[in-house]
Amino acid sequence: MTGKKVIITGVPGVGKTSVITESIRRLEEEGVPYQSINFGTFMFEVAQKENIVKDRDEMRKLDKNSQKRLQQLASQAIARIDGNIIIDTHASVKTPVGFLAGLPEWVLKELKPDLIILVETDSDQILKRRLSDTSRIRDIEGYQDIQDHQDFNRAVAASYAMLTGCTVRYIKNPDFLLEKAVEEMVQVLR
Ligand code: AP5
Repeated sequence: MTGKKVIITGVPGVGKTSVITESIRRLEEEGVPYQSINFGTFMFEVAQKENIVKDRDEMRKLDKNSQKRLQQLASQAIARIDGNIIIDTHASVKTPVGFLAGLPEWVLKELKPDLIILVETDSDQILKRRLSDTSRIRDIEGYQDIQDHQDFNRAVAASYAMLTGCTVRYIKNPDFLLEKAVEEMVQVLR
């Protein structure tokens, strides 16, 4: 397989998909094509066929083994995609029984990432974005819970770097500064 494999993560509502979409558009204009793959969509397509969830937000409430099986199927399918790809996913998923690693060893072995990017911002801004997003069923949690999740993501990303030799980059996406986050992302992906 050729091409660069970049994994982009961030807690729900941080705006990773907004940053990815605009970065890909800019890179396309520069003649640097990237395909964006949403890991959750691959999982959801299987889960829907099996009739085990009604919407994508229900997946993180499934029992741990079902989530791990869906993860494995998604990573195998994504590993077959050629070219420069961005994988839009989660460093960890908050389940009712604790954090589930989004990129456990068997997923990393399939994906072989060159780089993992963590999109982050202040937890109070994420809380506000979640509250104003009526299109999704977001977990209702406080500022400190969101901060703990972002902290856990940094810790688990370090272990992904140890396992794969990939680099890890943090990119901030603060309120009113989406443009700056996009510029930084484009620079890293170019
Ligand atoms: P997924 O669909 O990736 O869930 P998500 O994180 O909730 O995705 P979003 O794309 O909605 O979040 P986002 O923060 O990127 O939002 P957006 O750009 O819209 O995954 C779904 C499910 O799949 C997961 O829950 C999990 O169950 C499963 N899954 C996925 N990967 C997995 C894995 N590896 N292992 C196991 N399970 C996995 O932005 C949000 C809002 O912020 C928008 O309103 C936007 O306009 C606003 N905004 C963005 N940037 C700014 C800014 N700078 N200033 C102000 N507002 C901003």
